Amino acid sequence: MRYGIFSDIHGNLEAFQEVINAYKNEKIDKYLCAGDIVGYGADPNECIDKTRQLQALTVAGNHDWAAVGMTDITYFNPVAEQAILWTRAKLSDEEKDFLKSLKLVYENSDLILVHGTLNKPEEFNYLMDVELAQVDFKLMKKNICFIGHSHIAGIFIEAKGEISYSVQTQIKIDPNKKYIVNVGSVGQPRDRDNRASFCIFDTDRKEVYLKRVDYSIDKTQAKIIKAGLPPFLAERLSTGM
Ligand SMILES: [Fe+2]
Repeated sequence: MRYGIFSDIHGNLEAFQEVINAYKNEKIDKYLCAGDIVGYGADPNECIDKTRQLQALTVAGNHDWAAVGMTDITYFNPVAEQAILWTRAKLSDEEKDFLKSLKLVYENSDLILVHGTLNKPEEFNYLMDVELAQVDFKLMKKNICFIGHSHIAGIFIEAKGEISYSVQTQIKIDPNKKYIVNVGSVGQPRDRDNRASFCIFDTDRKEVYLKRVDYSIDKTQAKIIKAGLPPFLAERLSTGM
């Protein structure tokens, strides 16, 4: 089985389309989305539509739920809040129902999928350090979990109680170790690489690949400005920060 796993599209249609194009050469059997289809970008409707066309099994991101009033946005920074209110006004009732239907955690025989953390997923905490990784590793009944949320691609690995962090783009899965793979962000990377991030998990080869693809950043930025969204949301796409 080859899974195509992606996250944090954030309404960036140009980035998402390039990721979909890249997946077409990868013989993907099933797509998974770790949340945040919407928020920040100018094309929330199209990104929801394409996620559904892929039949991607999707878990809820904080922006997905915020856009439909299922999470409190008072803790959002002013830029994110403005984008969420803009997004909310753009969504149809049918699209809102889809976002409301998203669950926080998905698990099958191969893997676990969550937006932020397995511990209290409804709090959408950022798994950025060993301490939080340790808590999640203890909760994992499978040896691999895929996440998003921080927009930083990378892999936490637990071996004999020791946790390490890897930025390798290809790893072999050892059944005696546990892995939390952050697949990075399609539409708003924050790891100083402005290309769209996406992941493949091949269960036969027991390998995970973290990949990047270029997209037309200029076009996405122009759309964000034209939509009247905060200019910072356009600017940051250039630097990938
Ligand atoms: Fe996000």
